[in-house]
Amino acid sequence: MPKPRKIIIDTDPGQDDAVAILLALASPELDVLGITAVAGNVPLSLTERNARVICELAGRRDVKIFAGCDAPLSRKLVTAEHVHGKTGLDGIQLPDPDMALSAGHGVDFLIDTLRSEPAGTVTLCPLGPLTNIATAFCKAPDIVAKVCEIVLMGGAYFEAGNITPAAEFNIFVDPEAAEIVFKSGVPLVVMPLDVTHKALTTRARVEAFRNLGTHAGAVVASWTDFFERFDVAKYGSEGAPLHDPCVIAYLLKPELFRGRHINVEIEKQSPLTLGMTVADWWGVTDRAANAMFMGDVDAEGFFALLTERIGRI
Ligand code: RIB
Ligand code: CA
Repeated sequence: MPKPRKIIIDTDPGQDDAVAILLALASPELDVLGITAVAGNVPLSLTERNARVICELAGRRDVKIFAGCDAPLSRKLVTAEHVHGKTGLDGIQLPDPDMALSAGHGVDFLIDTLRSEPAGTVTLCPLGPLTNIATAFCKAPDIVAKVCEIVLMGGAYFEAGNITPAAEFNIFVDPEAAEIVFKSGVPLVVMPLDVTHKALTTRARVEAFRNLGTHAGAVVASWTDFFERFDVAKYGSEGAPLHDPCVIAYLLKPELFRGRHINVEIEKQSPLTLGMTVADWWGVTDRAANAMFMGDVDAEGFFALLTERIGRI
């Protein structure tokens, strides 16, 4: 087997972040160098706690977890308890974590790791607002060229927004940070709502998690049961979009996804469209392509991979 791919997961757990982290920790193809928590779905005090809960659930108390930024670069934090519940991991009561948070700020962990690892060997996997990544890039511009690739969940084009009619949550929370990342020149792979809304937790798929007969399988089924109620009520869909695991699944089986290498820019001016990802899907501008923007996924293959890996925990 080739050497595992080194990744850092930047996250705001969130049930879907939690499933993504479990998928990564269950996959020997990946070497999770650390997890940096960011304020997003719920405040930082909960996202860092939740990251520890998830790693303990996976039996991985060895994973380094850092608290990062507790607010966007220049705006008031917007959270999403209406989707994820008060704790951010509603759906099942899990024990309080007793593994310690790593000392130091998540942004400094990003900087130190990218400076110490060989150039081009570390992939960043942001699953929440891009505040930590942007702050690291501003504080240490030398690390930008050392990043192998950024594979992130965020944005929307054909699917329109989920927190406003125009914007997806991760980008909307910190559009200034998103602009820094999208203009950084780092190779980007973007999992927007256009693709995550095709990865729905149908009844059969949730039951497949439950039928694993493992504690992790039961927890994931409880999280997805809880997580879906908001999207089912809003979209009338069967199940909820499992957004963040698409990022990790891409690293494991990129062939599950299809998209286009296009220009994507971030709207920051208009209150009406703040945080919109303006994706030049049809190539109508001469703006340089900066992102592989995904539009389709083999949902059956995605859930088969996810269920098999969760079954390993
Ligand atoms: O819009 C969906 C994204 O926002 C997901 O990453 C979810 O966890 C929230 O962070
Ligand atoms: Ca997230």
